[in-house]
Amino acid sequence: AGFSDSFGIASYWRCTAQSASSSHKMVASKMMVAKEAIPLLTPHKIGRFELSHRVVLAPLTRCRSYTNVPQPHAALYYSQRATEGGLLVAEATGVSATAQGYPETPGVWTQQQVDAWKPIVDAVHRKGAFFFCQLSHVGRVSTNDFQPDGQAPISSTDKQITPDAESGMVYSKPRQLQTEEIPLIVDDFRRAARNAIESGFDGVEIHGAHGYLLEQFMKDSSNDRTDEYGGNLENRCRFAVEVIDAIVHEIGADRVGIRLSPFVDYMDCFDSDPHALGMYMVQQLNKHQGFVYCHMVEPRMAIVDGRSQIPHGLLPFRKSFNGTFIAAGGYDREEGNKVVADGYADLVAYGRIFYLSG
Ligand SMILES: Cc1cc2nc3c(=O)[nH]c(=O)nc-3n(C[C@H](O)[C@H](O)[C@H](O)COP(=O)(O)O)c2cc1C
Repeated sequence: AGFSDSFGIASYWRCTAQSASSSHKMVASKMMVAKEAIPLLTPHKIGRFELSHRVVLAPLTRCRSYTNVPQPHAALYYSQRATEGGLLVAEATGVSATAQGYPETPGVWTQQQVDAWKPIVDAVHRKGAFFFCQLSHVGRVSTNDFQPDGQAPISSTDKQITPDAESGMVYSKPRQLQTEEIPLIVDDFRRAARNAIESGFDGVEIHGAHGYLLEQFMKDSSNDRTDEYGGNLENRCRFAVEVIDAIVHEIGADRVGIRLSPFVDYMDCFDSDPHALGMYMVQQLNKHQGFVYCHMVEPRMAIVDGRSQIPHGLLPFRKSFNGTFIAAGGYDREEGNKVVADGYADLVAYGRIFYLSG
């Protein structure tokens, strides 16, 4: 219900249905309704996925997957947000036991987790929606308590995130991964992607955003390595590119998307040249024919008179990326329709509006 309320899908169809059942006098207005296509409610095809509209459920961590196992109630939560031909991205889902940093977040590295996702994915599919699993590793955004045997969280660096005086949150001091350990983490992502497909997901979204492990490598504020995974842009992006390549090789480019946030500075993770970083990553994605989508988060936005002032900083990336481009961050119905109509984005992902609905 919340979905319809927020985006006007219910009233759009109600309006169309009323027109259809009324007298000739209504024919003219019916034609007007038909002519005035709502940009967000127009279809969009991405490879095998024939979307009936362009409103995407953004990944939203819920912290309700007890002992990292998705729970049956998630079937209700996700199916409430599913629509025929819609695209949903699941909450950040850990690729391994070291990937966790928040309480009760799901994983997809054990058979129990794979099996637990199946009825949830089935429920979404019964509604006719497509469902991607967001594959995540938090890296240093964690504490020893979340780590196997109380170890230090792993990262690109051993630099700790500055403790947050306001919230009192202190993340543990991480351990910089040794060069020879990195292929093992890449392999965790590869295996998790295979597992997600076994759970029935239509594809995976690689979490390359928001200061988590991939970004810790990519951004120069958090990468102080001296090996081939640190230093220049190509080296800093090497880990992310290896993850992308491994997953594409494992499940096919036509099942893989990625989320990036070059401008965002969460968790002490920022880059001195976010534009170059975003462009480099887009070029890497373009190497994979049929790569499903590039999902980018807008720079931080200001709230003015209760509405987000979206900076719309993603156009250069949208222009350079060969595939479907998803924009996210502060969108409402009006802004979403505008950016689709303008060709700034193919799809728009919504987070908080969906979180609060249903
Ligand atoms: C409660 C909450 C949980 C979130 N969890 C995730 C997540 O698991 N993965 C992710 O990439 N982004 C996550 N985000 C960010 C959202 O996907 C989205 O980018 C952000 O809320 C901005 O979009 P909005 O203005 O439409 O809410 C989360 C945001 C919120 C509010």
